[in-house]
Amino acid sequence: MLDIRGLYQLNYILMRKPFIAANWKMNKTVGETQSFLNEFISLVQDVKDVDIVIAPPFTSLYTVSSIIKNTNIQLSAQDVFYEDKGAYTGEVSPVMLTDIGCKHVIIGHSERRQYFKETDEIINRKIKAARKHNLGVIFCIGESLEEREAGKTFDVLKREIEEGLKDISAANIVDSIVVAYEPIWAIGTGKTATTEQAQEAHKYIRERLASLYGSKANEIRILYGGSVTSDNIDSLMACADVDGALVGGASLKADSFSRILKFRR
Ligand code: PGA
Repeated sequence: MLDIRGLYQLNYILMRKPFIAANWKMNKTVGETQSFLNEFISLVQDVKDVDIVIAPPFTSLYTVSSIIKNTNIQLSAQDVFYEDKGAYTGEVSPVMLTDIGCKHVIIGHSERRQYFKETDEIINRKIKAARKHNLGVIFCIGESLEEREAGKTFDVLKREIEEGLKDISAANIVDSIVVAYEPIWAIGTGKTATTEQAQEAHKYIRERLASLYGSKANEIRILYGGSVTSDNIDSLMACADVDGALVGGASLKADSFSRILKFRR
């Protein structure tokens, strides 16, 4: 007989393949990217049951794309603009990303919301543009410490989900959009959410997704992000509604990221 946790895990194994992505942020030159991949590809070649994604800076996308051909690694960008082309100095379009082999793009990361003033509306436009060109989306949401302490976590998540996914159909979300819950206070601070905090937020996010997409919400993968390491990945992945991770600092070294990908439930 399966206990409750076993049932959850069965459900999760059957329906949602783990998705673990490296968010390198503004780190690594092309040379450093090449040395990482030289080591990393062989370390993870036997990992078949996880979607493995690397999101390097724009300058390394083409290099990664050429090196990972015929491997089990997928490429993601860290941002995209919402127009196809034109006079938008400094921006990169979804067409350009698919052209060089990107399968995914991170949209709505809290650092972009905070430092580059990206609003829910901009994020929604970017998600629509990415989907129009068939790019998978890693859609980031999460509350600040101030918001958590003021008891506003669920309000923030609700708003970010409803505004970010406005007019995105169910057909456009399953298998194409993963949601990354990243409490801002846990990003780069070494202060991970407890498994209870993570599960509570992920469960709430799935409920909100169900209010928009009905039972399809059970097929949407929800990642946790914020100080994920090889030491805490097992307990996070054991939570019923945690389907993967978005990893910053601990994804910069091939051995530590490969250990995370080989987590044990
Ligand atoms: P961190 O970053 O793992 O370094 O906390 C995660 C993220 O911002 O995606």
